[in-house]
Order: sequence, then structure tokens, then C-alpha cells
Amino acid sequence: MGKSNSLPPAGHYNANYGNFQTELYAQIRREAFGEDIGQNSWHTSDEQDRFLEWLDLSPGKTLLDVACGAGGPALRIAATTGCSVVGIDVHEQAVTTASSLAAQCGLAGRAEFRAADATGPLPFPDASFDTITCIDAINHFSDRPRVIAEWTRLLKVGGRLLFTDPITVTGPLTNAEVAVRSSAGVYLFVPHGYDERVIAQCGLQLLLCEDVTANMAMVAEARRAARASRCAVLREIEGDQAYDGQQEFLAVAARVAQEGRLSRFVYVAKRFS
Ligand SMILES: C[S@@+](CC[C@H](N)C(=O)[O-])C[C@H]1O[C@@H](n2cnc3c(N)ncnc32)[C@H](O)[C@@H]1O
Repeated sequence: MGKSNSLPPAGHYNANYGNFQTELYAQIRREAFGEDIGQNSWHTSDEQDRFLEWLDLSPGKTLLDVACGAGGPALRIAATTGCSVVGIDVHEQAVTTASSLAAQCGLAGRAEFRAADATGPLPFPDASFDTITCIDAINHFSDRPRVIAEWTRLLKVGGRLLFTDPITVTGPLTNAEVAVRSSAGVYLFVPHGYDERVIAQCGLQLLLCEDVTANMAMVAEARRAARASRCAVLREIEGDQAYDGQQEFLAVAARVAQEGRLSRFVYVAKRFS
């Protein structure tokens, strides 16, 4: 599988994936998300349960999770619905962790994780998947029409796409806020309405669009606070610069979300033909 042609993943991704399976980082996730499902996003288990109601997944169906991170959300879907999952992510440590978690929870037969750059052509035949998900990662792909066109190619007729876009501009932002909020690789900030247009351009039919900013505001603040209460040990592990950078990222993410200036939307679309 090809390596990334885009900027390498950076910032908090290295610290979080490098320490993902330690008890300390699991405790932080439990405090931030309520339930640790192995996520590294703004996604919670109750949100996933709601998203699953919009997807038609069951044993025998196949899901592609793009930018799967450490694989926890995809593995929970495999366990809950009985479907098979393929996860791809550009971060090698995330993919290694995902494969290890799949083996630990006895899902290795139905879950496969590979390193791949989601901004390029993906190595799967046309119409390979019943469902494609991408949670809090589409913002890292600068050419969105090309990415969604590739997902359309990979979906079976009747298949569904669900993605969240966590940096939709819905109010004024300072240059400092934008810089902090985009401190881990490539970020594409888009106006509300842009995702709907690209979905339509790619020949998919939009079934649903919902504002899910509240989860991001809540998780960002809870994660910042959980890390702050373990400040000394995290500074030792991550170094002062990385620790401070992630805390600032979480504080800004929480504030601009709470104030409704940077929003998170979920989109569900269907391939009809
Ligand atoms: C906010 S995390 C979300 C991870 C996962 N979806 C979750 O909910 O835990 C964003 C992910 O996008 C991945 N990513 C960034 N650029 C990518 C690219 N070009 N191709 C594939 N994955 C990418 C990062 O490595 C990271 O794991």
C-alpha cells in the first residue's frame, strides 16, 4: 500500500497514537468520551449508536472506514452489527494499534487495517463496499471532490456514505484560532453548504445533514481537562511543547465550537445508480 503524498501526520496524532494502548491514555479517553471505544476524534459511543441507525449494516456487509485512526470505532461497528470492516489510515502507528486491537478483541477475521493515503486512488475494485464512513478526518483531505468521487466509485449501488466534517466555518475566526485549530497536518476549512454541493456533484443523494457540534464542544473541553489533571506526567511523556500545543488545540477547539463559530456536521448520502 502506498505511503502518503500529503503532509505527514503531525502534532497530537503522534503523541496519541504512540501512547494509545497505555492505561494513562485510556483513562484520559474514558474521562473525555464517557466510554473509551478506542477513538481519537470527537466521536462518542452514543453518537455512534445513533449514526448506525442511518446505515444498513449487518453480517455479510462490508464497511470501509477511511482515516480509521487506532481502529476502535470501526471495531465497535464490526462487533455491534456483525459486518466486516476495512480501515485505512496514513499514520503507521495508528494502523499497527488497530490491527493489535482487532486481534485482542477476537475480530481479526472480520477486520483488516492497512496504511494508506486517503487523498490518492484507493486500492480496491469498483463497488467494493456497502458503506463508507469517515469520522472527523475529511478536513485533512484538501481535494474533497476527488476524495468523494473515489468513495462513490468504491460504493455499491444502494450503498451509503457517512462522514463528519468538524471544521465547517459558521462564524468569524481570527487568524490565531485558525492556526491553532489546524496544527496537525493539512486542514481544509469550508463554508456550510460546500459538503452538500460536493456530494451532489459526485452523483450521490444526500439523505441527511445534522449539526453535531455539541459533541465536539463537550469532548474537546473534557479531554483538555482530563489531560490538565495529569499535566506533570504528560509533560514528561510528550515534552512541554507537544503537551502545550495539544492543550491549546483542545482549548481553541472547545471555545470556537461552544460559540458556534466552527461547527461539525454529519452527512449521510446514498449511491442510487
Ligand atoms: C481526528 S483523527 C480521527 C480518527 C478516527 N476516525 C477516529 O474517530 O478515531 C483523524 C485521522 O485522519 C488521519 N489522516 C490524516 N490525513 C490522512 C490521509 N491523507 N490519509 C489517511 N488518513 C489520514 C490521521 O492519521 C488521523 O488518524
